[in-house]
Amino acid sequence: MSTLPPLSLLALNVKNLFDDGRFKEALEWLPISEHAHVNRFRFDADKHRALGSLLLRRYFFSKFLGVPWKELCFDRRPGSKPTLKIGNDTWVDYNTSHEGEWVVFVATSRPGLVVGIDCVRIDIPLHTDIPQFLRSFQSQLSTEEIEWIFYTNEENNMLKRFYELWGCKESYVKAIGVGLQRDLDTLSFKNKTEKEAWIVMQEDNWGYHLSDLDNDTIVVVCSGYPDKRPLDHDILAFCATTRPLGATYHQQAPFELVRWEALSNYLH
Ligand SMILES: CC(C)(COP(=O)(O)OP(=O)(O)OC[C@H]1O[C@@H](n2cnc3c(N)ncnc32)[C@H](O)[C@@H]1OP(=O)(O)O)[C@@H](O)C(=O)NCCC(=O)NCCS
Repeated sequence: MSTLPPLSLLALNVKNLFDDGRFKEALEWLPISEHAHVNRFRFDADKHRALGSLLLRRYFFSKFLGVPWKELCFDRRPGSKPTLKIGNDTWVDYNTSHEGEWVVFVATSRPGLVVGIDCVRIDIPLHTDIPQFLRSFQSQLSTEEIEWIFYTNEENNMLKRFYELWGCKESYVKAIGVGLQRDLDTLSFKNKTEKEAWIVMQEDNWGYHLSDLDNDTIVVVCSGYPDKRPLDHDILAFCATTRPLGATYHQQAPFELVRWEALSNYLH
């Protein structure tokens, strides 16, 4: 295994990635047992994100763990979080998310550390106005979060604040791997102070990092130890580079952008 950073972050832009027969070609790089996971969707955009997600995890583990891609096997943890089947003496946790034209991936091999990722596109609601749309999510937001969302006169900012909080909640839920079982209103996120670039939740010892993939798409990475151990210094240093909630777009997400050529080098 090569030396991994505490968190490895990859992004794949699937817009036009599978044009010109490349969808069929790339699907065949996957074992037959994984084809249904891609082909279950009706629309090409969904199929492309699902395919990108399965390719990205194989690309990463093949490249960084030095395991031939055909030998990689995946499973689910209790709670159904996908995991890599690997010997008991090696720790690996990973997570993926897809939205719009993006597929994102985070992995760690730090013993006991778990990771979650959520990619969110800030879409203007089509069939209702923004305040009405936001009110429909009230039961899944804490009182403080609702105040924060509506504490601005600009409706587009309200929407952006909502989606950022949503990304934080989902990234945490995905890190612990419980799917729909967690009440989202009990997870309350905020900036630690107006000056410090930290995103915190009431539950201790989890770290968050929010960044922008493009003007309309944000990504939140959550990491932490389920046994409540404090986060390591290097992870805390990474979390300190987050874009605070509500701030304007200021930096490209710190993800390695994976291209078709890189995928095809590893996966066939
Ligand atoms: C499982 C769940 C976390 C997926 O989130 P999503 O926003 O629908 O989709 P994303 O693109 O972010 O994530 C999909 C990936 O999550 C991963 N995933 C699936 N189940 C998971 C679980 N229990 N824990 C962590 N990750 C999981 C998979 O890798 C999946 O990608 P793949 O199918 O390509 O392998 C989500 O359905 C869920 O249960 N959310 C709980 C919070 C909630 O109520 N959300 C409502 C959203 S409107």
